[in-house]
Amino acid sequence: MRTLAGKCLTCHEITRHKMAATIGSRMMSLCVDCHMPNQPSHAIEINTATTQASLYFRSHAIGIYPGIAARVLQSHTPQSR
Ligand code: HEC
Ligand code: HEC
Repeated sequence: MRTLAGKCLTCHEITRHKMAATIGSRMMSLCVDCHMPNQPSHAIEINTATTQASLYFRSHAIGIYPGIAARVLQSHTPQSR
């Protein structure tokens, strides 16, 4: 899913991001984590012999989710990686 960031960047410039200083380049690739939060879905699950995964749907509503942004920032502190 991270590769989605590449798509975002065809239109959006990282350097123009209002929170660029706070987020930092390392985390910037996580656009989608903040702007299109995961919606865990149990409606669709993939079960094959080798894979068992439930799909996570990105909310299709791109938007600003301050609470989620704060959580992403917290879970990616410089020490944690
Ligand atoms: C085809 C070009 C394009 C792509 C690709 C694109 N955007 Fe946008 N995005 C826009 C335009 C145009 C706006 C409206 C800008 C404005 O209102 O000033 C916008 C607005 C936004 C906003 C503001 C929404 C709001 O509620 O104010 C966010 C956040 C955003 N985009 C994030 C993303 C993310 C994350 C991705 C990748 C998943 C992405 N965009 C991909 C063109 C694009
Ligand atoms: C850590 C969470 C986080 C990440 C990662 C992140 N953003 Fe944001 N983004 C925000 C928040 C919060 C705002 C609102 C900032 C404000 O209004 O002060 C914002 C604002 C924006 C806006 C401007 C919306 C407007 O109304 O002007 C766009 C466009 C945007 N982000 C796109 C992206 C793109 C593209 C990426 C990835 C390259 C990205 N963001 C990465 C949290 C994040």
